[in-house]
Amino acid sequence: MTKIRAAITAVGGYLPEYILSNKELEKLVDTTDEWILSRTGISERRILKGANKGTSDMCVEAVKMLCQKRGIDPMEIDMLICGTVTPDFPFPATANVICDKLGAKNAWGYDVSAACSGFMFGLVTGSKFIETGTHKKVVVVGGDKMSSIIDYSDRATCVIFGDGAGAVLLEPTTEDVGIVDAILKTDGAGRHFLHQKAGGSMNPASHQTVDAKEHFVHQEGQSVFKFAVTNMADVSAEIMERNELKSEDIAWLVPHQANKRIIDATANRMGLPPEKVMLNIQKYGNTTAGTLPLCLFDYEKQLKKGDKIVLAAFGGGFTWGAVYIIWAYNS
Ligand code: UT7
Repeated sequence: MTKIRAAITAVGGYLPEYILSNKELEKLVDTTDEWILSRTGISERRILKGANKGTSDMCVEAVKMLCQKRGIDPMEIDMLICGTVTPDFPFPATANVICDKLGAKNAWGYDVSAACSGFMFGLVTGSKFIETGTHKKVVVVGGDKMSSIIDYSDRATCVIFGDGAGAVLLEPTTEDVGIVDAILKTDGAGRHFLHQKAGGSMNPASHQTVDAKEHFVHQEGQSVFKFAVTNMADVSAEIMERNELKSEDIAWLVPHQANKRIIDATANRMGLPPEKVMLNIQKYGNTTAGTLPLCLFDYEKQLKKGDKIVLAAFGGGFTWGAVYIIWAYNS
């Protein structure tokens, strides 16, 4: 029997209009453009403004674009998976809201909570529904309105994060393209270093939790940095080894955009020159589940059918992984 693989056949993206520059942050907290740029590689990030605008609104725009590019109606989508840590509501899932706003009435779906690895985990689980032959069109969207959980008086976190969403369409293929291999990992022992302390069942929202600013992102940056550098580089090297990929075989590294220094360390470990590394952290900062699909969105025109690409991510939880894909189309 011919093996069915899941191939990415279209990409969409959405970035809110408002640009929050390093210069503007200098007015909010004790920081400098020079510090932010040299320590993270970020110049500016996007912020979703407007009352009652949530993660779903950005995801809807990304999926609409994807449908338009592929020439399909949202009614043709069988399933939609949304990676996010900033859902519109604790429940129902943001995937439900997205499908409703899109008019994707034949789709079912759910959210994946894996922080910065949310899109990657969604991509791999979505691919299984294609590989088994039960689903023909699966949308995987990663999006976060990080500005909704960031304390803009905390200079250690507010300079890093931004808002945005990206989406891909998965369809079956029997050609030698698509998602070939994946290594996904979690380690809950790392949860203390990067998390949101309140708002869940263990510590529900109260006046006290609001006063203590426990609904914002808490990050111990240096510890996360060390784990991220090691684990993202290790898992990327592991997927290369397992698939007998040499540096020269790889056309692109698609790394999570958390810190340019983490990206450089991963690329070095894989033996890749900077021109093979997708980078948009300077424009968008860390959009959490949005970074990987937004890289694919920005670089789509440069991708060619047959290109071997490796996606790598690391995020809160801890969660991390690498995915090996052979690109399926020319734009
Ligand atoms: O995407 C999910 C996973 N997240 C990550 O991968 C993030 C990983 N961590 C990082 O990217 C980095 O740790 C940060 C960018 C968050 C921080 O950079 P760092 O080089 O690790 O800085 P640090 O935390 O070691 O702080 C060094 C100094 C401190 O001052 P003192 O104690 O040396 O006087 C901080 O208070 O830099 C200070 N600092 C700042 N200074 C100016 C921290 N934030 C800022 C700031 N502007 N925004």
